[in-house]
Amino acid sequence: MSTPRGQFSSRIGFVMAATGSAVGLGNIWGFPTQTASNGGAAFVLVYLVLAFLLAYPALMAELVIGRHSRSNVVSALGDISKNNGVRKIGVGVGFCGVIVASLILSFYTIVAGWMLAYLTESATTIVGFSSASEWLTTQGETRNLIFGGIFAVLTMSIIGGGVEGGIEKWSSRLMPILIALLLALIVYVMTQKGATEGLKQYLLPDLGQISDPKLIISALGQAFFSLSLGVGTMLVYGSYLSKDESLPRLGAIVTVVDIGIAFTAGLLIIPAIYVAQHNGVQIYSEQGNLIAGPDLIFQVLPSLFSSMGAIGPAVSLAFFALMSIAAVTSSISMLEVPVSLAVEKTQASRTKATAIIGTIILAISTIIIFNFEALFGLVIKVTTEFSQPLLGIALCLFAGWVLRRDYLLAELKNGHPNIENTLFWKIWPAYVRIFCPALILLTFYHSVVA
Ligand code: PHE
Repeated sequence: MSTPRGQFSSRIGFVMAATGSAVGLGNIWGFPTQTASNGGAAFVLVYLVLAFLLAYPALMAELVIGRHSRSNVVSALGDISKNNGVRKIGVGVGFCGVIVASLILSFYTIVAGWMLAYLTESATTIVGFSSASEWLTTQGETRNLIFGGIFAVLTMSIIGGGVEGGIEKWSSRLMPILIALLLALIVYVMTQKGATEGLKQYLLPDLGQISDPKLIISALGQAFFSLSLGVGTMLVYGSYLSKDESLPRLGAIVTVVDIGIAFTAGLLIIPAIYVAQHNGVQIYSEQGNLIAGPDLIFQVLPSLFSSMGAIGPAVSLAFFALMSIAAVTSSISMLEVPVSLAVEKTQASRTKATAIIGTIILAISTIIIFNFEALFGLVIKVTTEFSQPLLGIALCLFAGWVLRRDYLLAELKNGHPNIENTLFWKIWPAYVRIFCPALILLTFYHSVVA
C-alpha cells in the first residue's frame, strides 16, 4: 500500500458520515410509505423493535470487524481467520458485499437522478421555463441517462476527495442542511388543511396488522436497508474510525439518529399526502390502496406543490433538494466499498480507481435504464430483499464465530475500557453468534415462503 489509509478526523465527523450513509431515500421515501401501506403506527412499532433487536447488533458486527481489520471488506473478512477454508469464505462474502453495494448504487443512481431532474424542474418553473419543465418531469431514457450521469459524477467527485476531504467534509456540510430542510417543510405542511388527518393515520396504530408476516418482513428489510447493512458500508466506515472511540456508543447514536430521521420524515410525508387529498389530488389507487411508489413522489406531491400557488415551486425546490442530499450522502458510502478495495489491492490512485469503478457502475445503470421493465424491480429485489439480509447473517457469524473472542474484547475495549462490566458485553457476543443470525434467517425464511 503506497498511501496511508484515510481516517475520520473526529467523532462528529464519523457520526455525520455514518448517519449520512444511513439516512437516505430509504428513510424519507421508503419508511413513511411503508408505514402508510402497512397499518400506520403498527409498522412503526415493529420497525423500532426490529431495528434495536436485529439491525443494531448487526451494525455492531460490521463496525467491530471494520475497525479491528482497518481494511476494505474483502481483506477484512479474508484476514480474520488463519484457516484456509474460512479465509476463502471470507473473501467470497467480501466480494459479494462489493458486488451488492455496486448494484444497489446502480439503481440508486437512477432514482437519485429523478430527484435531481425534479429539483431542476422546480428551479426552471421559478424562472418561467415551462417547456424545460415538461421535459424534466416526463419519464424518458435520455433524461434518466443525463441526470443519472450528473448524480454519478457528483458521487465520484466526493469519493475522489478521500475519507476526510471528501466523505467527512461533505457529510458534515450536507447533513445539517438536510435536517433544517426537513424541519422547515414539516412546519409548513402542518399549517395546511388536512395535515392533522395524516398525523392521525401515521400515529394511531392498527394493532390488528401487527403480527402480519408481510408487515414484519417489510420492517426487517427496511431496517437493514436503512442502516446500510450487509454490504460492507458500515464495515468500511468503521475501518476509518479512531481507536479512541466507543463502538457500542457510536453504533447506538447512528441507529437512533437513523430511526429518528425516518420517523420525522413520516411527519412530513404522510400529512402531505392528506393535504394533497384536501386540495383535490387523488391519493388512492384504483385498487383503493394509498399511492406509495414512485407515483407518490412524482405525481401526488408535485400536484400538491402546484396546488399551493405562488409558494409551490419554492416548497418543491426544498423537497427535492432534501431528497437529493439524502441520496448523495448515501451513494458515496456505497461507492466507497468497491473503491477502498481497489485502492488497497492495486497500485491505482484513489482518483483513478474512483473514475473507473464509478464509470462501470454508471454503465450498469445505463443497462437498467434501457431495460427498465425487466431489470429495475429485479435488481432492487435481489439486492435488498435477498442479499442484504443473507450477507448480514454472514457478517454476524464472522464477528461471532470467526473473530477470536480475545480480539473482539480488545477491540471493544478501545475507547470503552470498562466494556467488560457493561450490559453490552454480557449480551451482545452471544447474541450476535446465535440469536441474531437465527432471527434474521427466520424472518427471511418467512418472507421467501410467504
Ligand atoms: N441507507 C440508505 C438509505 O436509507 C441506503 C443504503 C443501502 C446505503 C446500502 C448504503 C448501503 O437510503
